[in-house]
Amino acid sequence: DAEFAEKKQRIADLLKLHNATLIAHYYTDPKIQAIAEATGGIVSDSLEMARFGRDSDADVLIVAGVKFMGETAKILSPAKTVLMPTLEATCSLDLGCPIEDFSAFCDQHPDRTVVVYANTSAAVKARADWVVTSSIAVELIDHLDSQGEKIIWAPDQHLGRYIQQKVGADMLLWDGACIVHEEFRSRSLKTMKEMYPDAAVLVHPESPIEMTQMADAVGSTSQLIKAAQTLPHKMFIVATDRGIFYKMQQAAPDKVFIEAPTRGEGATCRSCAHCPWMAMNDLDQIIHALEKVGTPDAVPHEIFVDAQLIEQAKKPLDRMLAFGA
Ligand code: 13P
Ligand code: SF4
Repeated sequence: DAEFAEKKQRIADLLKLHNATLIAHYYTDPKIQAIAEATGGIVSDSLEMARFGRDSDADVLIVAGVKFMGETAKILSPAKTVLMPTLEATCSLDLGCPIEDFSAFCDQHPDRTVVVYANTSAAVKARADWVVTSSIAVELIDHLDSQGEKIIWAPDQHLGRYIQQKVGADMLLWDGACIVHEEFRSRSLKTMKEMYPDAAVLVHPESPIEMTQMADAVGSTSQLIKAAQTLPHKMFIVATDRGIFYKMQQAAPDKVFIEAPTRGEGATCRSCAHCPWMAMNDLDQIIHALEKVGTPDAVPHEIFVDAQLIEQAKKPLDRMLAFGA
């Protein structure tokens, strides 16, 4: 529509003016994803968002997603200005793993290698030996396990359990969870599978283990989109944030995608298949952030990370990117 076209043009002009690039996650508003694609930015999973930001020669990165993604971008590129539509967009995994408690937990198990999911604060990353995203988590733990290492895994218990089951590694799990993915229900999924027997099931591993056990493909957001393209099925039941449908449908235009059932169906559910923090990102805030860059009004958008934390957290992030290369 005309309003969208106008905002899209405004954002494109501002990106050019500030030598900025837009980096968006698949769970954000499809309008944001479309603008990122059209302006030479990227729409991706959290691993590729990190890599793209690091390798970009833009002066300003505007990260549409949640706070840990902006912090990761800043840690990997301290000289760049990193903006977000809103700094209030956080993540239940990050919130569920406060540094003081986590650090004390690690101190109790000094013989264990500390592996944390990217969905954590800069301080938690700084305490870790490794950072991973869901796209390389199984491979990395398999690698560490083959070297005889015992592991602390935080914060996502479901992803941790999934990896443990696949690799058989010795892992101590933190008890965090994603409020979106933990709502998916395997019992209702069984009923749905009976209704659509030819459909394949795609599951993000932040979902409960009973869900991943029923899946035809388990993986990061990018890996699920790939599975939608490559599996021969015509219909897919998808257990992840519904923001992904925009790219999935684009990647496989002749296929049909339906949402996996959640516990809150029919009832009030603040996070049924859509992350409330991802939903906070909007076009007006992107415009505001880019208009105010370099002024005090940019403060509600700009990511700052303590220099010492940057130094410490960069090491496990660099390892992640090197391992996933
Ligand atoms: P991905 O790395 O698969 O994009 O996951 C990020 C996330 O927050 C999923 O909920
Ligand atoms: Fe965090 Fe879940 Fe939202 Fe992803 S979907 S950002 S894991 S709360």
